[in-house]
Amino acid sequence: MPVCRSCSTAVPEGNAFCGRCGSPVDASGDTPTKSVVPQHPPASPGLVDEGRFPPGTLLAQRYRIVNLLGRGGMGEVYRANDLLLGQTVALKFLPPAASEEALNAFRNEVRTARQVSHPNVCRVYDIGEAEGLTYLTMEYVDGEDLRSLLRRIGKLPHDKALEVARKTCAGLAAAHDKGVIHRDLKPSNIMLDGEGQVRIADFGLAGFAGQLRDVLSGTPAYMAPEQKAGKEATARSDIYALGLVLHEVFTGKRPSKDSKPELDPLVERVIHQCLDPDPQRRPATALDVSAAMAATAAGRPRGDRAPSKILIVEDEPGIAFSLENDLRMEGYEVAVAGDGVEAVRRARAEAFDLILLDVMLPNKDGFEVCRELRRGGLDTPIIMLTARTQEAEKILGLNLGADDYLTKPFSPRELRARIRAVFRRAVSPGERGRGQTSI
Ligand SMILES: Nc1ncnc2c1ncn2[C@@H]1O[C@H](COP(=O)(O)OP(=O)(O)O)[C@@H](O)[C@H]1O
Ligand SMILES: [Mg+2]
Repeated sequence: MPVCRSCSTAVPEGNAFCGRCGSPVDASGDTPTKSVVPQHPPASPGLVDEGRFPPGTLLAQRYRIVNLLGRGGMGEVYRANDLLLGQTVALKFLPPAASEEALNAFRNEVRTARQVSHPNVCRVYDIGEAEGLTYLTMEYVDGEDLRSLLRRIGKLPHDKALEVARKTCAGLAAAHDKGVIHRDLKPSNIMLDGEGQVRIADFGLAGFAGQLRDVLSGTPAYMAPEQKAGKEATARSDIYALGLVLHEVFTGKRPSKDSKPELDPLVERVIHQCLDPDPQRRPATALDVSAAMAATAAGRPRGDRAPSKILIVEDEPGIAFSLENDLRMEGYEVAVAGDGVEAVRRARAEAFDLILLDVMLPNKDGFEVCRELRRGGLDTPIIMLTARTQEAEKILGLNLGADDYLTKPFSPRELRARIRAVFRRAVSPGERGRGQTSI
């Protein structure tokens, strides 16, 4: 552990300042130390933007300012050392509260936001006051926000964009689950850390800003139409902002009427739904957005896995159980039907992306199930499973409208490959019935 040069107190690794006397510590690693603590004021103050609180400033006898991270719509954000807990935090200053009422509303918001615990949500720690200003402490994210990343590299590569989309949806859904609405989702509030993890910051803070509209400048560029009209924001207002953010993530640009289509049509459709002026017509939850995005990935030839829904029709509990487990591990959503009648009922009532259909079944065999479903117009891909090996049976299944045929026993790997192949074919229309009869 490094030791303070002034008072010889041990200083936890990573701290830039001594917890006892507050002197800067010469530590190795990425923690800025003396370089950010000018011994004298800079010769030309205009050159170094230190913000209101220069590096080294001690606030509330607890936080040692390391450096200014940026300035946003509300105020300055600093990186600081929490000397009490020996941890780096981000410290965000808020504009002076308009009233005690506004401050109370803000405290409520923070209380709720603190209940959100999710890997894709930047943690909120506490609020405090220093030099007459209210500040919020939160998890310090060592990385870059999406706005500056997009400015630097334009759009994200498709796979990375899908990943960022999925993680952003997951964080947003977790917050909505707790009743926390973001109200100000935008690229600069989405951060990517060194490991590529996504963290959404500033949940609920815009509510506070809303009380202080006159203090704020800047355009509400990511606001849903109902928010702009002064109506109460809902989870679906966040979904609108999410649509704008995703458009930028995938294309590097804001959507505009005369922009040429350059997006994957499936991704474009999801984004378009998010941007519906009528909140009721937007996807209901962020998880719906994520599922729709994942479905686009499932249809891609690279065989990306997606939480597609699979119905297993199998009467032998041991086989059903192991199939179910294998597929869940693969990230699929799985349901099991134990006989032919139940299979037909569920296949019609629920939207499955694939049916794995055993042939020997109680009540109604797999051939009959297949015939009935196809006659009813259902075109969900079907893979037939059976222990029989006769060529004639395979051909019968395919003639009845099955997409592929797997002979038991098969390995999980074989099953995965077939499922992907069927999903691939399912995105190119007119291919039905051309399944392979291998094995
Ligand atoms: N928790 C954090 N960890 C690290 N950097 C942060 C954090 N919060 C904000 N920042 C940085 O400070 C800058 C200003 O933040 P903020 O005031 O929220 O502005 P904006 O209105 O652009 O979101 C951001 O662009 C971001 O780079
Ligand atoms: Mg922000």
